[in-house]
Amino acid sequence: MTATIAQKIQQFYDESSPLWERTWGEHMHHGYYGSTGQHKKNRRQAQIDLIEEALKWANVRSADTILDVGCGIGGSTLYLAEKFSAKAVGITLSPVQAQRAGERAIEKEIALTAWENFADVDAPAVQFQVTDALATPFPDNAFDFIWSMESGEHMPDKQSFLRECYRLLKPGGTFLMATWCHRSTDNLAGALTTSEKQHLDWLYQLYHLPYVISLPAYAELATQVGFTDLTTADWSAQVEFFWQDVVQSALNLEAIAGILQSGTETMRGTAAIALMTTGFRRGLIRYGLLSGSKA
Ligand SMILES: C[S@@+](CC[C@H](N)C(=O)[O-])C[C@H]1O[C@@H](n2cnc3c(N)ncnc32)[C@H](O)[C@@H]1O
Repeated sequence: MTATIAQKIQQFYDESSPLWERTWGEHMHHGYYGSTGQHKKNRRQAQIDLIEEALKWANVRSADTILDVGCGIGGSTLYLAEKFSAKAVGITLSPVQAQRAGERAIEKEIALTAWENFADVDAPAVQFQVTDALATPFPDNAFDFIWSMESGEHMPDKQSFLRECYRLLKPGGTFLMATWCHRSTDNLAGALTTSEKQHLDWLYQLYHLPYVISLPAYAELATQVGFTDLTTADWSAQVEFFWQDVVQSALNLEAIAGILQSGTETMRGTAAIALMTTGFRRGLIRYGLLSGSKA
């Protein structure tokens, strides 16, 4: 039987997350290297700076109830719950990630509570669950801040993903996503070339991405599902250095041994690093931010 894209994503993160955490820590996203991308710094700090800069960019200063869509091992979920003294739910397709995120909450002494019982506990409190972002069990208008850090690229139906986030967002709340995109085709550069399509196809196979779209295409879909106050930004220059840092840190014997031992999924992910580096360099891969609200 052929595995569905969701099953492949689950397997990828089930297998690769323990090694990622051992090698690179709890955040599974790019780092922010200053507005020009030239500010070299510790990688973990760069990843935290990306969270902080994105919050600043979207003018998010407070939140009571947060949904972290595609939460990994809870890096952002726990960070945001603590920062805003909020109640936060993290969802992922990977049971291994959900389990580890819960353990990390306990290690950090943050209450791990079923979200139905959030009213009975003091903030911060968190819950992690295996749930597909395209069809979640939460009621309408449940969260005042919805955060999606590098999960949009995995969504097989970008419009359904945005529609679900819109449904879950409280009126007046903020939706903020950061995601891998391809370059805009709505300009002189025109449609993607055969070579660019081939490059993306390899990346899709290696990272279990159904497809990526351009940032203007995201903005159009977000408008269609009802988001208001839409803002977008291209932060490719600010984050691109991350891959050089990943390559450097992977070049130690412990990381290589881990990659070899932790299965084919991780080895495929490692090959994808080369495609990301060259994809950014040729202007094909773009790093997009989008924020919106609900009237
Ligand atoms: C690159 S990781 C990012 C993790 C986290 N946001 C961070 O920054 O550390 C992508 C995450 O998206 C999740 N994901 C992908 N497709 C999903 C879906 N359809 N529903 C829920 N989560 C999904 C994966 O399980 C994984 O946790």
